[in-house]
Amino acid sequence: MATPQHEGSGGRAVSESLTVTDNRTGRTYEIPLEDGHIRALELRQIKISDADFGLMAYDPAFMNTASCRSAVTYLDGERGVLEYRGYPIEQLAEQSTYLEVAYLLIFGELPTAAELEDWTHKITTHTFVHENVKRYMQGFRHDAHPMGMLLGSVGALSTFYPDANEIQDRHNREIQTIRLIAKMPTLAAFAYRHVRGQPYVYPVNHLTYCGNLLSMLYKMTEVNYEPDPRLAHALDVLFILHADHEQNCSTSAVRTVGSSRVDPYTAISAGIGALYGPLHGGANESVLRMLRRIGTRENIPAFVAGVKEGKELLMGFGHRVYKNFDPRATIIKKACEDVFAVTGRNPLLDIAIELAEIALEDEYFISRKLYPNVDFYSGLIYEALGLPDTMFPVMFAIARTSGWIAQWLELVQDPEQKITRPRQVYTGQRERAYLPVDQR
Ligand code: ACO
Repeated sequence: MATPQHEGSGGRAVSESLTVTDNRTGRTYEIPLEDGHIRALELRQIKISDADFGLMAYDPAFMNTASCRSAVTYLDGERGVLEYRGYPIEQLAEQSTYLEVAYLLIFGELPTAAELEDWTHKITTHTFVHENVKRYMQGFRHDAHPMGMLLGSVGALSTFYPDANEIQDRHNREIQTIRLIAKMPTLAAFAYRHVRGQPYVYPVNHLTYCGNLLSMLYKMTEVNYEPDPRLAHALDVLFILHADHEQNCSTSAVRTVGSSRVDPYTAISAGIGALYGPLHGGANESVLRMLRRIGTRENIPAFVAGVKEGKELLMGFGHRVYKNFDPRATIIKKACEDVFAVTGRNPLLDIAIELAEIALEDEYFISRKLYPNVDFYSGLIYEALGLPDTMFPVMFAIARTSGWIAQWLELVQDPEQKITRPRQVYTGQRERAYLPVDQR
């Protein structure tokens, strides 16, 4: 099949191709290349007979399969590059704010001063939740995991905004976007206060996004709670680093569930579910538990030896995509120092630093390209802020909401996307005759 000129989905004419010979039949096929990839469906024409279904790619965990075209986040794992809409993460962490980055991810451009003011005003004035949402959260057990509470309450928001399923309406999508970003800190803080048995604190409008979150988490009897601006800033930097990370596990969950055309609250609650897991957003929780268990610097060699024997993982190390370094880990180390300047040094940081130094010089970790990821350090900041381990993934979820929405918005406007439905390689038995129970 000769296809020297092929019209790619981006409208570009492409002339590169692969020539594939099927050694079963001796037939040769020319598979067009678009931007350096092939369309998996092109493989379907490779058959041994007319009755044959055609060739499929088998790719458990999507190690080498792109599920979408996306213009949100660029990631080069080999070179340790992360860009949101083309802007390097280092520049955004240094100069921007979380709300500005959220705007960038969602609208594709940095806002003008007027746009940023309008956006900030809209987010700030949508932070309240319906009183029944509060009552819904009060129904959880006293020791409920706050991530489970967040998951449930974000899903429940879809029942408070039933029009959110009108996802083809641009204005409707925009209002749900604002609500999600605005209400996520409120729900997260309510979950935290619930577990502590403290009254929920309502949002205030004179504080920044992260300043208000700190107020909702920590305000007690003060008439006006004034968060330390250095802590609010460090949290803002942390949120920028966590805002998006292209097609990771939770974003893929949001896209998969969103592909059924469900409302964004339900799709994002699926993302929260994926983020809950210890190999993803739960990793920072596990890092802290691991550091506490190691306890002293003298215990590090024995712990590392156990990891190398396969007894356990070095949590906060390794990444599916980054194979040299995680650029976010470098920035976060600096944020750690800024926070400790206010809160006092967390002794676990010294264990973490020494553990990283030992691991980075060890052949086991070098040969497997295992480096500290962002969550090796983020838990230390959250702990310094006085948060329990169970709140770490919740904080991550607040930050990732802007990225999930940006990806969801891209999905629902992408004419190439359909409901997600992977194929399988069936390995079970076939065509067995049913035996009544008394004959088995
Ligand atoms: N400690 C010890 N060994 C490890 C670790 C680790 N943290 N991570 C990977 N390895 C080893 C594996 O055992 C495997 O060794 P082998 O080749 O001898 O079998 C090899 O390195 C390759 O690892 P995979 O599991 O195949 O890598 P994958 O890309 O599937 O996993 C993951 C990536 C899940 C992040 C993994 O490195 C891990 O479990 N890390 C710890 C959990 C963690 O920190 N997660 C946070 C990720 S960042 C985020 O979600 C924000």
